[in-house]
Amino acid sequence: MSIKIISVAGARPNFMKIAPLMAAFGERPEIKPMLVHTGQHYDEKMSDLFFRQLGIPEPDVNLGIGSASHAVQTAEIMKAFEQVVLKEKPDVVLVVGDVNSTIACGMVAVKLGIKLVHVEAGLRSGDRTMPEEINRILTDSISNMLFCTEKAGVENLKSEGVADGRIFFVGNVMIDTLLKNREKAEASTIMDELELQPKGFATMTIHRPSNVDNVETFSRLLDAIEKIQAELPIICPMHPRTRNNLPKLGLKQRVESMKNLRILEPIGYLDFLKLNANAKVCLTDSGGLQEETTVLHVPCITMRENTERPSTCQVGTNQLVGTDPAAILAAWEKVKAGEYDNREIPELWDGQAAERIAEIIVSAN
Ligand code: UD1
Repeated sequence: MSIKIISVAGARPNFMKIAPLMAAFGERPEIKPMLVHTGQHYDEKMSDLFFRQLGIPEPDVNLGIGSASHAVQTAEIMKAFEQVVLKEKPDVVLVVGDVNSTIACGMVAVKLGIKLVHVEAGLRSGDRTMPEEINRILTDSISNMLFCTEKAGVENLKSEGVADGRIFFVGNVMIDTLLKNREKAEASTIMDELELQPKGFATMTIHRPSNVDNVETFSRLLDAIEKIQAELPIICPMHPRTRNNLPKLGLKQRVESMKNLRILEPIGYLDFLKLNANAKVCLTDSGGLQEETTVLHVPCITMRENTERPSTCQVGTNQLVGTDPAAILAAWEKVKAGEYDNREIPELWDGQAAERIAEIIVSAN
């Protein structure tokens, strides 16, 4: 008997998670895989480039939804995805991460009586003003099988009353992708193009609404960034949300006056992996980068008040510092003193998570 699985990907951080799953499903004769792209992210640089570089198969269906308010985006994805599920009648719908596409497709599946699998379940920042936190809580509460990247995720789900038999600690599919592509990324010429030396620069990403939609917070972050860029170049591939906000918040000129802050368009997976692997430090508010830098043994300074990925701080290279410039600069001093070099890699972040997930799904169906 074959198990028909519709896997869903919508936004950039989903693509690195779906890639190893599609590969692992393709290896299993018991599984009939299908891929649906919701189109939440649609630019060449936010989407297509990742499909090509990570060898993700062409989506069987692209819903082409695009940008809109949260309610409209979620509703449009649900309307379009329901038609796909009704037509395809899958045995399982699999969603990853915490973006709007995750909860939208999850809700459609369970209401049609289809088994829902959530990969990267159980993560909690404790901050319900984050749209992703709402998506995580809701998706986990309706999923039939919940696959966790770290022990804290397992504990969170248990404390929310999820039955033990539905929770599986399998490791991290995002790290499967990183380990698989590390060698390939070595061939990237981006360091030469940008004239950078190993450990001679920082990388930075910043796009959380709480950081870049608010002029006071964004300005405070820039106070710290201004000082750090005076010591070493900061390479910042900029998310469209952040780029759009700079002129709106009146911060464009200030950013442009920082000569060592080098703003790029969003860049591909392999180039960014090469940069991060060679950076002295990574400054970020992203979720995935906290994990990737831990595996790369590169210090990470997370400019947020909370993290849903505590193992990166407990055993990895991550310092969670908030948005106070003094705290960011204190963390930078620790990086310079070598305090965050060579820490541990969390359990099961070994490149095999997708195979474990495929095996568990096959055994259960
Ligand atoms: C989404 C995810 C966030 C993830 C981020 C990674 C949710 C709630 N948030 O946030 O968890 O970290 O993706 O990128 O799902 N835009 C483009 N081109 C695109 C996509 C977006 O220009 O291909 C611009 C649009 O102006 C859009 C804005 O970016 O309005 C925000 O996009 P959206 O998908 O709504 O949320 P993100 O901020 O990207």
